[in-house]
Amino acid sequence: MERRTIGAGALSVGAVGLGCMPMTWAYNGSRQRGDESLRAAHRALDLGTTLLDTADMYGPFTNELLLGRVLRERRDEAFVSTKVGLLVGEQHIVANGRPGYVRRACDASLRRLGTEVIDLYQLHRADPEVPVEETWGAMAELVAAGKVRALGFCAVGARGGRRSAGGLHDGTLRQLRRVQQVFPVSAVEAELSVWSPEALESLLPWCAARDIGFLAAMPLGNGFLTGTLTPGEGFEPDDLRARHPRFTAEMMAANQPIVVGLRRIAARHGKNVTPAQVALAWVLAQGRHVVPVPGAKRERWVAENSAADRLRLTARDLAEIAELPRALGSWD
Ligand SMILES: NC(=O)c1ccc[n+]([C@@H]2O[C@H](COP(=O)([O-])OP(=O)(O)OC[C@H]3O[C@@H](n4cnc5c(N)ncnc54)[C@H](OP(=O)(O)O)[C@@H]3O)[C@@H](O)[C@H]2O)c1
Repeated sequence: MERRTIGAGALSVGAVGLGCMPMTWAYNGSRQRGDESLRAAHRALDLGTTLLDTADMYGPFTNELLLGRVLRERRDEAFVSTKVGLLVGEQHIVANGRPGYVRRACDASLRRLGTEVIDLYQLHRADPEVPVEETWGAMAELVAAGKVRALGFCAVGARGGRRSAGGLHDGTLRQLRRVQQVFPVSAVEAELSVWSPEALESLLPWCAARDIGFLAAMPLGNGFLTGTLTPGEGFEPDDLRARHPRFTAEMMAANQPIVVGLRRIAARHGKNVTPAQVALAWVLAQGRHVVPVPGAKRERWVAENSAADRLRLTARDLAEIAELPRALGSWD
């Protein structure tokens, strides 16, 4: 697999990462099986993926524990990205960016992952109660202590910003400028996909101009862009898509032209090429600093997604994707 370099610290990773979140969180809970997920993670490493993206809150905690079982055998082949700053309660998720908490959470993540160092430690969400410089300063101390190699900043929860004037990522960019004064940002993780291209407007160019890597979260549109989901099929109650505005039967039907377009492009590249691979190849085409982290818990999906780095989209393909209808179904 092609390698990509992210961040001023020149961190080198396989071009297609693996989002471990679905292994213990978020989607198809009844299909979450440790043995299958372990096979999927090993297959990803076999195929040249190195970046394994997790978070303490996925599960909570079970995702890091699962990954720890992989790292026990193959730590040298993996690039571990985990996150701090969100706590899962009974009914809700809260931010905690207090320095003392960050220090404790990092030690706990290191224990669960069974490693001495985290390659990329990301701030999952800035805590509105704590100046972001304080949280980031505590994270920088972890680098100095040798527990973490580089810092990342997540901007996935930026959707709420749409209600205010300005661009989707304006608030994130303000925070990024502030934390950059404290310690260099090596990577930003935010949603980027064919049906959610907003990061292309300002966030992606901002990162490119500063040699900051961009981890594309949800590059498969939470599974929709793979064309394997049927409108109205229904989701398990704890599946994130059960409450996602783009996943009502009506919106899934209305957004089918996007999948049809990806399928048409896939067919031009060969009978075994899939819409998922086209969706990932589009993300890879957005810049050499961009690394998609498709989430998957099945070995079969991992193999398919890894192969996307061999698919080169043509100018015609990219133009067709640019002309696809805008996705319907919004959080606003
Ligand atoms: N920083 C943040 O705040 C944040 C937020 C969201 C996500 N993320 C990261 O981004 C990663 C990716 O996002 P995501 O997992 O939410 O969404 P995604 O990658 O867009 O989609 C994941 C879904 O697609 C399915 N899938 C994967 N490959 C497939 C294929 N080739 N064919 C058919 N279906 C396929 C998976 O199925 P299975 O579940 O059956 O495997 C899963 O349900 C996460 O795992 C996480 O690491 C970060």
